[in-house]
Amino acid sequence: MKSENFGLDARFALALAIAEEAGKVALGYYENRESLIIETKRDPQDVVSIADREVENLIRAQVVATNPDDGFLGEEYGLLAGTSGYTWVVDPIDGTSPFVNGMPNWCVSVAVLRDGQPVIGVIVAPCHGEIYASALGKGATLNGTVLSLDPKRTIRNAVTGIGANSYVTPAFVGNMVEKLLDAGGNFIRNGSGALMLAYVAAGRLVGYYEPYMHAWDCMAGFCLVREAGGWFHPFPVEGDRLIKGAPVLAAAPGAIDDLRRIASL
Ligand code: IPD
Ligand code: CA
Ligand code: CA
Ligand code: CA
Repeated sequence: MKSENFGLDARFALALAIAEEAGKVALGYYENRESLIIETKRDPQDVVSIADREVENLIRAQVVATNPDDGFLGEEYGLLAGTSGYTWVVDPIDGTSPFVNGMPNWCVSVAVLRDGQPVIGVIVAPCHGEIYASALGKGATLNGTVLSLDPKRTIRNAVTGIGANSYVTPAFVGNMVEKLLDAGGNFIRNGSGALMLAYVAAGRLVGYYEPYMHAWDCMAGFCLVREAGGWFHPFPVEGDRLIKGAPVLAAAPGAIDDLRRIASL
């Protein structure tokens, strides 16, 4: 339908523009990170700074000004319900730990949901000069080059990303690592789950697993992976499930069965 497409197209253009601008602002903070005051949230490994808050404020203000009926969920300031059927799901800085410790593996992640699905996913990695963009039915791109997953890549001839946080028992991650290595695979973690999902879409990783993430960590990455020809395990976002976490598994076609078996998903 024309109005629906216009709604998606307009929001896709906006998501790209906002994420790029947010990436520049975040990069400014990163380059002056010695002056940031680092605060802890749930535990000493869970950190935040004014950079996370200011970047979310910038994105939130632009969405509210341009699409006041849309919902908005951000990691730092929570959920503002909407009425349009579209909900923006934003992680202003994914990879805050690498960010504050001077490692370039962090990104700005902007997704838009409709009917419980991510219909827009944009991830900007400013230190790498990379912009990952996707929208429902329009494919996925990295700096304008179309992404299309190679079905010949499997857990045995490529690398799988695995993430961890203190929300769940270490056994989940330990078991996953052990089973993956047993099956002839290997793993990597760079500290930004959203960026690792973008790497799945780009064919750099063959899959990504983390036992518990929030919607703001994974929705943009899921859209990218699906549009590049990959798969993700259904992640519940209906009602109050939107602000709760769930297991994350995404994979290229040749790794889906192995990773589902190994992760028991
Ligand atoms: C975290 C990163 C990390 C993942 C955690 C996330 P944050 O997000 O994506 O790689 O393992 O589960 O919470 O806090 O840096 O936005
Ligand atoms: Ca965080
Ligand atoms: Ca995150
Ligand atoms: Ca974050």
